[in-house]
This record gives sequence, structure tokens and C-alpha cells, in this order.
Amino acid sequence: MPPLKDNDIRGIMTRHLQTDMLLGVKLAPLAPPGRSAGSSTAKTASVKSAPHLSQISAGALAKRQEALNDLDQQNVKVCNNCNLHQTRTNTVFGQGHPAARLVFVGEAPGAEEDRQGLAFVGRAGQLLTKMIEAMGLTRDEVFICNILKCRPPNNRDPAPDEVISCRPYLDKQLEIIKPEVIVALGKPAAQTLLNTKAAISALRGKWHDYYISGSPLAGQATPLMPTFHPAYLLRNPAGKARAWADLQQVMQKLGLPIPKRK
Ligand code: URA
Repeated sequence: MPPLKDNDIRGIMTRHLQTDMLLGVKLAPLAPPGRSAGSSTAKTASVKSAPHLSQISAGALAKRQEALNDLDQQNVKVCNNCNLHQTRTNTVFGQGHPAARLVFVGEAPGAEEDRQGLAFVGRAGQLLTKMIEAMGLTRDEVFICNILKCRPPNNRDPAPDEVISCRPYLDKQLEIIKPEVIVALGKPAAQTLLNTKAAISALRGKWHDYYISGSPLAGQATPLMPTFHPAYLLRNPAGKARAWADLQQVMQKLGLPIPKRK
């Protein structure tokens, strides 16, 4: 990746700060009293009053955004590692905060996601938005992506070779974002990220360890909570209470206030 120019960093930061302001996030002064905001040291992008966002320097935030953009533009958008590139309309990289404390991982894009090139924008996505908002968060404060970056025709289950070819992109996304918690939505996401064949009913509601590429040798574990996929919840609304209990565990782990259910 070529080194970032000051103007690039300024542009990326401005867009993020504008988003944060739109979200009503109170920002820390960019420099402590007595030091000019233009100083290259001590730039803090988010503060304790916004516990849903990472504490991260402006430069580090810009680098993560740039690394995600590079991965998308140079690898995912041009990927032809499996047959799904022949039938896709758009790749679906995923979207959200480049330093999100919480990442949701689903299965694969559906028809609407394939059309728009965005993750979880169809009916299941609308329910996911409600789940995120019930946690006191917005979609812009988390990151949302999938195991597969291309739609399997007729929404069939991901094939093993497709999961294997796509996995490095997801691992790289998680390595860049460095979330504190991952939520795996549904069986394919949970089984892939945990390298297991166990049923979602057995996995959900308990904490697991995610390792990049599934290998503890690859680095530190990230806590992962499997829960039901929103598409399953649309078909089986009785599962919503269990999904909400899973998400409350996630909020507790992140130190977020648990809102009363309406
Ligand atoms: N289902 C998923 O798993 N992912 C999407 O992006 C949309 C629906």
C-alpha cells in the first residue's frame, strides 16, 4: 500500500468526523489544552462519552479505512477464485466503522445485496438493523459483512470450495478492524469461523474463541458469540427472545448499557 498523503488522511478523517457528528457523538479535542490541534501528536478520535466506538488515533483510523478500501478494490472486487464471480452482479465487501468494536458476520449476499453491492440491505437486513438499534447502536458504529462476498445462485448454501476461497478476505477484514467482539449470524458463519460442524442451537448463547484462519498460532483470540440468523428469525419469531439474550451478553462484554425491552 503506498504511504498515505496528509490530504488523504485529512479527507478520510473529515468524512468520519462528519459521520460521528451526525450520529451525535461528542468528540474529544484533537489536542490537549496548550497544544495546537494541528500538532501531529495526541490526536484522539473518540472519547469515553462514546463507549460504542474504539479509542483510536486519527492516523490509525485512517489507515484501517485505507487498508479496507485496498482489500476491497484490489482483491475482492476483482476476485475470480471460485465460480460465483460468473453469476454475481456486484461483490459485497461489507460496510461500517473501520475500527468497530463489534462485527456481525452473516452467510452470503442475497438478491438485494447482490444488486446494491451492500451487506444486509434486504428483509433480513432490516431485522438486523432493528437488532443493532435494540442494542443502542447504529449500523454505522458496527461493521457488517459475510462469509461469502458473492451471492450463491438462488441463495443456495455456500459450497465448501467457495467458503475456502473467500475465507482469507474475511480473516483480513477482521485483522484490520480488530473488533473486541464478533457476532456470527447463523450456522454457516458460526461453523466457518469456529471450524466446527456443531449445530447453531448448540453453539449459540455461549462464548467461543475466533482465531484468524482458525489457528491459535495466528494470534490472539477474539470472543465470538453465535446467534440465530435474522432470516431464520423472520421465519421463526419465537427465537427472537433467545437471540436478544445472546445480544445482551454481547452488550455486557462491551460494557454497553442494557436497554429495557419495549
Ligand atoms: N443474509 C446474509 O447472510 N447476508 C446478507 O448480506 C443478506 C442476507
